[in-house]
Amino acid sequence: MAIHSRTLRIFGKHWMKPLTLIALLLPGAWIFGNWALMLAYLPHEMGFNPVEYTHRFLGDTAIRVLLVTLLVTPVRDITGWAPIILIRRRIGMAAFFYAALHILAYLWLDKMWSLAALWEDVLLRQYITFGMASFALLIPLALTSTNTAIRKLGRQTWQRIHYLIYPLAILAVLHHYFMVKGFQIEPLVHGGILAVLLLWRVVKWVGPVFTKKSATA
Ligand code: HEM
Repeated sequence: MAIHSRTLRIFGKHWMKPLTLIALLLPGAWIFGNWALMLAYLPHEMGFNPVEYTHRFLGDTAIRVLLVTLLVTPVRDITGWAPIILIRRRIGMAAFFYAALHILAYLWLDKMWSLAALWEDVLLRQYITFGMASFALLIPLALTSTNTAIRKLGRQTWQRIHYLIYPLAILAVLHHYFMVKGFQIEPLVHGGILAVLLLWRVVKWVGPVFTKKSATA
């Protein structure tokens, strides 16, 4: 199904990138705004435990933006609207940005900037181990997301590095799953969405192999 309307062309050319940027900045503005209100002793939306609220809000934003990054290709494949690929990189960078803020908030608010204390947590708490592993894999993706890096690495090497998004997304879901105590639906919803997005790729890659085999059989 290909969408080729004039409105969509104009949207893709003039509006898609700035609107995506605004949408990606909104969660950051929300949390900074609420901290500003709290520090000014004004009413805010973070409840009685602003520290926990901040960790959870930033963690949720990071994982959701990561899932949206993985959604771009299936949307392109289904709609045939190629320009949507142009916003994938900035969505991926936003996922990195929110994950980095999430970790910085933890380092600041819980660990008083002690890297040794953070490292101890990585070694002792399983869900933090998964979180750190996920973030470690996000770093090379963020570092190689500039035009210069893509040119220097070549499309194929760049593509290979960016396959890291799949294991790191699985690690992020595991981090969330092992963090929660008792039954909670949210990590399962994130895991379910990720499973569908990964299955889409498996079918896309493996499907043609089977079609070729049955055509030659
Ligand atoms: C060193 C790396 C990381 C550390 C130290 C860390 C730490 C934390 C902490 C302390 C919490 C809240 C626990 C609580 O409130 O009881 C949390 C929750 C969470 N984190 Fe992380 N995290 C890391 C990496 C990541 C990454 C890379 C992602 C996603 C891309 C992520 C996504 C989440 C999510 C989705 C939650 C659950 C939020 C909720 O309950 O609504 N974290 N993390």
